[in-house]
Amino acid sequence: MGCFQCIRERCKHRRGRGSAPMPSSSTTHLYSPTSKDGTSISEDSAAVKPVTATSKSSGSVSSQKSIPELYEERGAHNLRVFELKEIRDATNDFSRLLKIGEGGFGGVYKGSIKPPDGKGDNTIVAIKKLNPQGFQGHKQWLAEVQFLGVVEHPNLVKLIGYCATDGERGDHRMLVYEFMPNKSLDDHLFNRAYPSLPWNIRLQIALGAAEGVTYLHEKMEVQIIYRDFKASNILLDEEFRPKLSDFGLAREGPSEGHTHVTTAVMGTYGYAAPDYVETGHLTAKSDVWSFGVVLYEILTGRRSMERNRPRNQQRLLDWVKQFPADSERFSMIMDPRLENKYSLKAAREIAVLANTCLSKLARERPSMSEVVHSLKQAMQYEELDGQVEPMEETSADHLELDNKTEQESASARRRMLHLAKLGENANVIARRRFLLMKAANQT
Ligand SMILES: Nc1ncnc2c1ncn2[C@@H]1O[C@H](COP(=O)(O)OP(=O)(O)OP(=O)(O)O)[C@@H](O)[C@H]1O
Ligand SMILES: [Mg+2]
Repeated sequence: MGCFQCIRERCKHRRGRGSAPMPSSSTTHLYSPTSKDGTSISEDSAAVKPVTATSKSSGSVSSQKSIPELYEERGAHNLRVFELKEIRDATNDFSRLLKIGEGGFGGVYKGSIKPPDGKGDNTIVAIKKLNPQGFQGHKQWLAEVQFLGVVEHPNLVKLIGYCATDGERGDHRMLVYEFMPNKSLDDHLFNRAYPSLPWNIRLQIALGAAEGVTYLHEKMEVQIIYRDFKASNILLDEEFRPKLSDFGLAREGPSEGHTHVTTAVMGTYGYAAPDYVETGHLTAKSDVWSFGVVLYEILTGRRSMERNRPRNQQRLLDWVKQFPADSERFSMIMDPRLENKYSLKAAREIAVLANTCLSKLARERPSMSEVVHSLKQAMQYEELDGQVEPMEETSADHLELDNKTEQESASARRRMLHLAKLGENANVIARRRFLLMKAANQT
């Protein structure tokens, strides 16, 4: 799903004077904040250009530390700075066989990096390579480094390091993350090539993602608004635990005494809060709206926007209104791929929670810690007594799962692991086939 508007203008941090290169011959590092006027200083031309020129924020004056300042204090020491050669070696020179995804930022490759001292086992990583022709540029790269360099939570993806080099043959910006072997929630909910997620794993993913956002909103010394909460940014680890990725759009929340940050509107169609889109007023409650959208995606297995459906079903939030949580018809929205194995009570409670997250007035939406609380309550219903009355889909269309032991999340996880492996193999085969066809065409 595409991001919208002003992508090139992304990440105008209020005080963001972020960058920090300590240039070696070819590698650009990140710099310390040097000015209070919101301008970043770069030490060489390769380095970081201004992160923020001016601020339109309603809450721009504050004594609290900014993310770039916090980054200088701790993030800068935690991240490893890679030479381009190390990245090339790690990815077999960006081999297509190692390409695992492509987003607005650029290609994502699986890689294997050597430990810094050269001793011990290699680490498997995911490497994002900024596409110089892409919409999302250096500012987003920098925001990602600074935010992920500062945060630390089990439900946020770990940034291992970065590579930034400028040379005659072009500039390079790369990000090196811990590898998340089970793709994204988006893949598992919407891509039929992947196994459907069992109910209890869906709930655990929702809860973990909510805890990640709660940390950003409520547990940091600076509030962070994530601004790009969506299923494709929820990555899944080997145990299907969720980790939020992509902090290129994140920004600091309003400073004390201010209700919102005024900013250019950025995010993803179908997930951004309408009040934010209309006014440009960004608050943590904008993330809460997006969370409500994802809750409905988890319940229904449908994307927030699906243009290939009948007109009255294309917009998920409009469609689900016809099946209120307290009505008999409610179960008609449930994902047929769940094959009735969900708790009807829990599903109703989650739909009610989603509705509050989707309140028109931002102030009526719950905080993320309230969302966490409600999700935990809904998760207490363990009986898988759901009903599905398929609309135009039948469960027979979907992958068959061994369901004997599905009620236990541990065994469901084992099954998922196996199926995910099969999916990965299929992907590799598909990629190989693509390369072979290309080679055949060239000869
Ligand atoms: N740390 C990671 N480990 C494993 N795979 C990853 C990792 N980061 C990204 N990927 C893979 O790369 C894909 C593309 O990710 P990316 O964030 O670039 O794009 P997106 O989320 O699909 O779109 P957008 O640009 O709108 O965020 C992901 O769906 C995932 O499959
Ligand atoms: Mg993403």
